Amino acid sequence: MSIYDASVYQRGFGTFPLIGEKLSQAVHVALDVGYRAFDTAQWYGNEGVLGSALSEARVLRHDILVTTKVHPENMDDSRFLPSVERSLRDLRADVIDVLLLHWPPGDGPVEPSLELLQEAHRRGYARHIGVSNYTTAMMRRAKAFLDVPLAVNQVEFHPLLDQRKLLGASLETGIPLSSYCSLARGEIFKYPVLSEIGDRHAKSAAQVALRWILQKGVAVNAMSTRPANMQANFDVVDFSLTPDEMLQIDGLTVANYRISNADVVPYAPTWD
Ligand SMILES: NC(=O)c1ccc[n+]([C@@H]2O[C@H](COP(=O)([O-])OP(=O)(O)OC[C@H]3O[C@@H](n4cnc5c(N)ncnc54)[C@H](OP(=O)(O)O)[C@@H]3O)[C@@H](O)[C@H]2O)c1
Repeated sequence: MSIYDASVYQRGFGTFPLIGEKLSQAVHVALDVGYRAFDTAQWYGNEGVLGSALSEARVLRHDILVTTKVHPENMDDSRFLPSVERSLRDLRADVIDVLLLHWPPGDGPVEPSLELLQEAHRRGYARHIGVSNYTTAMMRRAKAFLDVPLAVNQVEFHPLLDQRKLLGASLETGIPLSSYCSLARGEIFKYPVLSEIGDRHAKSAAQVALRWILQKGVAVNAMSTRPANMQANFDVVDFSLTPDEMLQIDGLTVANYRISNADVVPYAPTWD
């Protein structure tokens, strides 16, 4: 399955913080709903459960797209490639569909870990490579440094955070964005404008937020443990927000609500 099949990749299922039987059940429901893109990471400690749940599924592995991410502690010469080989085994995959660097090295130079990522691609360990939590300046440096184009920069992206600079850098560098914490872990529900807009389309506030992200040209990774929410988060391609509604939601970004700050994640760079 290709990352360029937008109908698959734009609606990904996030797996953090699910582990064990809870993850296994969620994956089976998600596949029944129609999800074919799954997001995991070495850090989540759930690649093995995801790999076995996908191998038990009736859906062909060829039709599924798995993204995983290299843990920041594995981004050195001795640990990087062995960690990717472990991910391949745990995911029961011949090749990782999308391999990301989970975090940049704070504000440090990005080139050493990008070189390791590129080497994993050269060895055939990954079909596509990408990054996560890169700033605009890092996107430009990556574009200048790499021979292989980056398939994605996965970033915090939701209606309560102004990410226009990242969208601009995405257009400029050709590196697409995908979102995490697309519902700001529930914080968006404090803003009634989302459900007011949703009422006009017979959709929920969550669906409006996800639709707003898609209409920005950004892929979504949504996580839910509830079948009804999984279904709702998937049913976001059968309606459109008007330009006026998009602008109203843009107005919420003044909240400047960011989850992934340095006090939560020690690897976080200075956001630009
Ligand atoms: N690259 C990175 O650094 C990074 C960082 C964080 C996350 N991620 C990825 O992004 C994925 C999503 O982020 P996230 O899970 O942290 O945040 P999120 O998607 O903003 O929020 C998840 C929460 O929203 C609730 N929810 C989901 N759908 C809903 C709906 N339709 N209506 C009401 N509530 C709903 C879920 O509860 P219920 O279970 O009750 O539905 C869950 O508690 C993660 O699973 C992970 O794969 C990546």
